[in-house]
Amino acid sequence: MASSLTFLLLSSLVIFSLTSHAFSASLLPYFYYKVCPKALPTIKRIVQDAVRQERRMGASILRLHFHDCFVNGCDASILLDQTTTIDSEKTAFANNNSARGFEVIDKIKSEVDKVCGRSIVSCADILTVAARDSVVALGGPSWQVQLGRRDSTTASRTQANNDIPSPFMDLTSLINNFKNQGLNEKDLVALSVDTH
Ligand SMILES: *[C@@H]1O[C@H](CO)[C@@H](O)[C@H](O)[C@H]1NC(C)=O
Repeated sequence: MASSLTFLLLSSLVIFSLTSHAFSASLLPYFYYKVCPKALPTIKRIVQDAVRQERRMGASILRLHFHDCFVNGCDASILLDQTTTIDSEKTAFANNNSARGFEVIDKIKSEVDKVCGRSIVSCADILTVAARDSVVALGGPSWQVQLGRRDSTTASRTQANNDIPSPFMDLTSLINNFKNQGLNEKDLVALSVDTH
């Protein structure tokens, strides 16, 4: 128990870095406060229900956020299905048959659209808040999430294959891979232990 709390504490630091490093100039924690005060409570409720049903789902959603952010930033590109114009990241090596929790994010999106109106809350923000709420639902600490991300309209399986760390990388490659995202060795350990 003590060790799992330590890992959760570390992950919160990681996610804070993931969410703050690329976007700190334009994002705001109270982005939806006026346009839809029910947005964040709705996300939290559905995440809590999902984690209550299956605790592993908390780690799965955190991993989904991690694998989204490593490919062109936290823009929800990982949620896009394959089409003639979209090169889905869902079948990249690190995601095919292992990325899970999409149905929880879909459910949140449909509920949030119901209470806020369509296209008010981005999927990128939903995934980012859901990752934080997952850590909290598993007994970890909370932190403030910066909001106002826009969703990507494209995805890249090739880039996902290049940018998401592979289990075959040695330590030096892993450290460099995380450094490319503005993350350090502590972040590497936290995300590796927490989400695998
Ligand atoms: C993803 O997994 C499925 C099922 O195992 C497999 O048929 C498919 O070829 C895989 N896709 C890629 C791109 O590796």
